[in-house]
Amino acid sequence: MTTANRQPEVTGVLSWFPLDLPLTQRVIALFVSKWIIGALRPLVQLKVPDLLSDGPRSAEEIAEATGTNADALFRVLRCTAAAGLLVEDSDGKFGLTPVAAGLGEGAPGGVRDMFLFASDPMMWRPYEDVLHTVRTGEPKFDQEFGMAFFDYLKQNPDSNTTFNRAMLQNRYPGSDRVLDSHDFSRYPRIADVGGGKGQFLAEVLKRHPGCTGVLCDQPQVVAEAAEVFEQAGVSDRVALAPTDFFESITPGCDAYLIKHTLHNWDDEKAAAILTRVREAIGDNPDARLFVIDMLLTEHGKWDIGKLVDVEMLIILGGRERDREEWNRIARAAGFEPSNDPAAGDLVLLEFRPV
Ligand SMILES: C[S@@+](CC[C@H](N)C(=O)[O-])C[C@H]1O[C@@H](n2cnc3c(N)ncnc32)[C@H](O)[C@@H]1O
Repeated sequence: MTTANRQPEVTGVLSWFPLDLPLTQRVIALFVSKWIIGALRPLVQLKVPDLLSDGPRSAEEIAEATGTNADALFRVLRCTAAAGLLVEDSDGKFGLTPVAAGLGEGAPGGVRDMFLFASDPMMWRPYEDVLHTVRTGEPKFDQEFGMAFFDYLKQNPDSNTTFNRAMLQNRYPGSDRVLDSHDFSRYPRIADVGGGKGQFLAEVLKRHPGCTGVLCDQPQVVAEAAEVFEQAGVSDRVALAPTDFFESITPGCDAYLIKHTLHNWDDEKAAAILTRVREAIGDNPDARLFVIDMLLTEHGKWDIGKLVDVEMLIILGGRERDREEWNRIARAAGFEPSNDPAAGDLVLLEFRPV
């Protein structure tokens, strides 16, 4: 029986930690997240998972290969191994676990770029004073950097690259489930609004050889998309549409997908984007809007979306939404819901124009 089972009062994230702490001290278990991420980030920056792909190595060997301080490196390796992300053998050599292998450069299905983005200083610094956000309702990011998140990316090409590379790995199992469970073949021309470098649209087109696609995103993002479509073998079926989605969206498509994008914005701005989609649909009653985003569960239920929501609040001023909230912004833009997926995960919400 686990500690968590012996203490049924402990729910959510705290129940995942095996520390046998009294309940009044149990929040301490959360501190380890900072220590582990702090130890893991330099290892990923130094490409230690790649160095270990040929087999375990000692801290001294890794320090020599990476030009780092052997004692400091040993201690972050040991911490990372104690957390179960590396293996430390009886000779003191460190080897990969499957989790650490997923942090190697180009690891199939890996999340190195996602990890480097999520642990980047631009994503940490706003967390130093979340009280500002709680007092004002404003994203701390804007106060910290003097501008909104996407404006910051526009002005900082390295950060823009970090973000866009991370989005290429924005493939939760939920994304694959959505791809596998929806037949888009009855929509000959499919737009992906805020589609990044085309990562989701490329998968849709691969699965639906009769469809063509339009990638609508900011000019500096769309400019980097060609490679993604080439790799997927669908370049001949895609048009690139650099745009500001608050201004206009390519008209005349049969389906408009918008994935992991409306949650970046408050209700007013999300409804403005959907209004541009509605204008693009015009008087075609058969066209559909597909929102692919979290659907929050009711009060009191565990839901990872309720945690992601705080990141949206602090960094972007956006939000995750429940069914009523999605319906409200969709109706404001001229859409009616036409499906009813279960809440608690990434879902595909279908809307028809009215
Ligand atoms: C969180 S990413 C999601 C990317 C992609 N849909 C995915 O799921 O991986 C949000 C996208 O919105 C785009 N975006 C932000 N502001 C925009 C604007 N004003 N016009 C067009 N696209 C914008 C960003 O460039 C980014 O690619």
